[in-house]
Amino acid sequence: MRKQIAAANWKMNLTYQQGAGLLQEMVSANITLNENQSAVFAVPFPYLEMAFDTVQHKKNYFIAAQNCSDKKSGAFTGEISAEMLKSLNIPFCLVGHSERREYFAESNAVLAEKVNICIRNGITPIFCCGEALQIREENTQNTFVEQQLKESIFHLSGEHVLKIIIAYEPIWAIGTGKTASTAQAQEMHAHIRYVLKNYFGESISNQISILYGGSVKAANAREIFGSPDVDGGLVGGASLIASDFIEIIRALK
Ligand code: PGA
Repeated sequence: MRKQIAAANWKMNLTYQQGAGLLQEMVSANITLNENQSAVFAVPFPYLEMAFDTVQHKKNYFIAAQNCSDKKSGAFTGEISAEMLKSLNIPFCLVGHSERREYFAESNAVLAEKVNICIRNGITPIFCCGEALQIREENTQNTFVEQQLKESIFHLSGEHVLKIIIAYEPIWAIGTGKTASTAQAQEMHAHIRYVLKNYFGESISNQISILYGGSVKAANAREIFGSPDVDGGLVGGASLIASDFIEIIRALK
């Protein structure tokens, strides 16, 4: 069975103290994850070490960075390299969140480099894709998402693509309170899996976890995660409230 993952994306929220408190609540909660299930917390860079220390003894809890540089090292003031993340034992990194694409002009080509550099450093990229509202209204979302995948991950070998997690996040559903319907999510996830199958074969396509992101809440998580091709969620707003995110983790298959 594919890994089922509830991933929190704190974005640029919470002070250090608030973040530490929230993680403490998550760790103290009575949640038992089975072998197939993981809870991942994508926290701001300055909190990575604290977060790692807080969850390291909790089974199947992991920490992620929200971004990394596409460059190895050098004169790139303010950037954080994949090698730095590795040196802090961080196992996951979000790559290509729509906010990075939109506000920091990250192109599919740059994201391909970020994917490569994460994999080279043994970090699992949580690769985000998804269409804007206009594309959905034109009904060209399938080809749009396929192109994002083609340009950023389809250069990988089968062995390497297996190290990736995909997060489908329709931009029109992020932070808007407007979730994709379960049917819309399942339809796109099945399409992504179909595209993966065409490029990498059925066995590989069946092993890659595809998370849904966009206004996942405690109240809708179970229904969304229940779809056959949805392997959990990437959660922004609702991951900032311990009781909500605890319910979301409990909703994993
Ligand atoms: P949201 O954010 O859950 O607040 O919609 C999801 C995301 O951007 O990862």
